[in-house]
Amino acid sequence: MTPSATERGGWAVRRAGPDDAAALALVGGATFLETFAGLLDGAAIVAHCAREHKEAAYRAYLAGGAAAWLAETDEGRAPIGFALVAQPALPGAQPGDLELKRIYTLSRFHGRGLGKALIDAALTHARDQAAARLLLGVYKGNDRALAFYARHGFVPIAERMFDVGGKSYADQVLAKPLERHHGR
Ligand SMILES: CC(C)(COP(=O)(O)OP(=O)(O)OC[C@H]1O[C@@H](n2cnc3c(N)ncnc32)[C@H](O)[C@@H]1OP(=O)(O)O)[C@@H](O)C(=O)NCCC(=O)NCCS
Repeated sequence: MTPSATERGGWAVRRAGPDDAAALALVGGATFLETFAGLLDGAAIVAHCAREHKEAAYRAYLAGGAAAWLAETDEGRAPIGFALVAQPALPGAQPGDLELKRIYTLSRFHGRGLGKALIDAALTHARDQAAARLLLGVYKGNDRALAFYARHGFVPIAERMFDVGGKSYADQVLAKPLERHHGR
């Protein structure tokens, strides 16, 4: 049988706008749950998603100047991943840095270069903004994401405690220094 476009990994990444807030919220909640079920407290996950992955939260990010990219299947254009970059709120952040607040892909689509396409979009944006570094916070128990970030040149710079639905978890803060474009 010929594989469908989705089975072959048929997806595309595009810049997201305010009308995509519902899609970002849906993918955000779905990926947060499938990533952290069994790792973090269940009630804390539910409370966290209700507050941080609601449509209004993503509308507010975008209205506040954040940039986002949405990955959609070629077939049916269903949302399957996104990345979101905004002003940093992290220990170790310096003026001129930006933060990768979210990078999520649904697990069915892992290992097909989708995470790379999203992080490349975020890094290109950060360089275009002449940011000094791209920062992010990641749960210390999230081995897959930690390995992914290390492969993409992120190094540890600080630690923080991160509130998930009223419970506190240890995060690693990572940074990738950005080379400036030629001529700047
Ligand atoms: C971290 C995350 C975004 C990575 O996304 P991903 O889609 O799995 O990433 P990629 O497919 O680009 O890379 C994973 C591997 O697939 C490989 N790969 C397979 N097919 C590929 C293709 N066609 N093109 C490029 N890379 C491909 C990559 O090279 C990489 O392999 P490596 O270990 O040899 O480097 C994703 O795992 C995720 O969303 N996890 C859950 C949520 C999460 O933890 N987010 C971070 C919170 S801080």
